[in-house]
Amino acid sequence: MDDATLYSKYHSMQTKDVNFVLENYIKTIKWKSSESILDVGSGSGEVTMQLLAPVLPHDFEKLVGLDISPEMTTYHPKILPIR
Ligand SMILES: C[S@@+](CC[C@H](N)C(=O)[O-])C[C@H]1O[C@@H](n2cnc3c(N)ncnc32)[C@H](O)[C@@H]1O
Repeated sequence: MDDATLYSKYHSMQTKDVNFVLENYIKTIKWKSSESILDVGSGSGEVTMQLLAPVLPHDFEKLVGLDISPEMTTYHPKILPIR
């Protein structure tokens, strides 16, 4: 997926799936303190920041999104890519 604009507009199905997974399974994770979380295939990072980040434990150390597509990682101006 390289077309970040298109994906950003039409990712409601993925958002629904992510919500389902988080609502049903996040509570089964046994977190340790100061965890670092890696979101592989994070795309533009919108789902990472809007859906995943709010349900993480408050004391997490780091949340990193990783994506193979530079178009996706540079799409959202407020989410900084690591190079
Ligand atoms: C369907 S999008 C999902 C994006 C985001 N996780 C979301 O829920 O909106 C899948 C993403 O995985 C990325 N991807 C595919 N293969 C990858 C790989 N081998 N390593 C890292 N990212 C990959 C694509 O570039 C694409 O942005």
